[in-house]
Amino acid sequence: MQTPGPTDPSPPPIPATPGLRERLRAVPRQLLARVHALKDEHASPGRLGLAVAVGVLIGASPFLGLQLVLAVALATLFGLNRFAVLLGSQVSVPPLTPLVLFANAQVGAFLLTGRWLPLSLQALRDVPARQLAADLFVDLLVGGLVVGGALALILGGATAHFVGLVRAPDELAPHLPTPRWKELQRRLGALPRAWRSYARWKLRLDPVYGLVLTELPEDVDLVDLGSGMGLLPLLLALRSPQARVRALEWDARKARVARELLADLPGMHVVEGDARAGALGQPQAITLVDVLHYSPVEEQRQWLERCANALAPGGLLLIRELEPARSRRTWATRLEKLAVRWGWNQGATVQAWAPSEMAHALTALGFTAVIHPAGSGAFRANSLVVARKPSAP
Ligand SMILES: C[S@@+](CC[C@H](N)C(=O)[O-])C[C@H]1O[C@@H](n2cnc3c(N)ncnc32)[C@H](O)[C@@H]1O
Repeated sequence: MQTPGPTDPSPPPIPATPGLRERLRAVPRQLLARVHALKDEHASPGRLGLAVAVGVLIGASPFLGLQLVLAVALATLFGLNRFAVLLGSQVSVPPLTPLVLFANAQVGAFLLTGRWLPLSLQALRDVPARQLAADLFVDLLVGGLVVGGALALILGGATAHFVGLVRAPDELAPHLPTPRWKELQRRLGALPRAWRSYARWKLRLDPVYGLVLTELPEDVDLVDLGSGMGLLPLLLALRSPQARVRALEWDARKARVARELLADLPGMHVVEGDARAGALGQPQAITLVDVLHYSPVEEQRQWLERCANALAPGGLLLIRELEPARSRRTWATRLEKLAVRWGWNQGATVQAWAPSEMAHALTALGFTAVIHPAGSGAFRANSLVVARKPSAP
């Protein structure tokens, strides 16, 4: 073992243990940090809505005195935001308690016996106390489930809606901090109601936008084919001001909405026309999100080859499409066919070409290709093909 010589540097000072005063001073800061952590846990709009709904159900239950414990226990068990569950359970705090109990008891009694509870004291006195208490508990339980269920739907839904206006859904939150999400909402808010509602619903339910943003670099030079109302270009522009996007869309209405949505955002350009024939240039990335299946499979093949040839060396081709084998068991293909019939999406046909076959065709052109699941709910049969062109030798 070496002993320190006279030239050795002196050993680092041992940090002093904080005294009682320092520790007391740190308490408010630690408490505040804890409050922030609790506030931000499981805080996507949907989960906060669910948490409030669960809280309301607990608040409307007859377990008076246990509601706080129940709220914290269930929130912890199901991974819900504890603040939101506690807030929801306040639905029956004084002075609302008698009102909620009365409504629950009446609804419960009516559902179980077909009669409302008598309001006279005499009628209540005629029933033995023990039986009265048991009947009342069951009435409150059943009524609480029905009245609480209705209130939970209304208050939970309203919470999810309003939080959705200020906070991005889980898949988009890492890409868009709250101020940029608010800017997105501001832009959507200026659109006619139908477009605005569709966009909000789509951004909340469809995981594809988050997946595509994850693949694309900040300073991407992208061509987005069949861009629809321009949601992907909008997300890219708000995530990174360096991004440049050319959006091609043949539906004049959607191209107009896309221009409105992207107005004044530098680097964003909307072109109206057939994306199968439009000039592609030599971009670093091309996206085809839910677009190919509007053309017959043979045309899709030629379209893909055209995109593959146009991409810059090392460029990315991202394609989201239906898996035909899996989509037969979901509503996705039927919904797509209806969307085309009603004119919401312009297309000649709906023909799903398997993403695995696309990946195969691209591999034959020298690309590396991987397939990720890219859908949820009715759209769970969707996949994202992430294909990269080889870099120049
Ligand atoms: C289901 S939407 C998807 C929109 C957008 N990619 C998104 O995910 O937000 C498909 C869009 O592709 C457009 N489209 C289909 N074939 C096209 C073509 N050959 N040229 C330009 N747009 C096309 C349709 O008009 C429609 O707006």
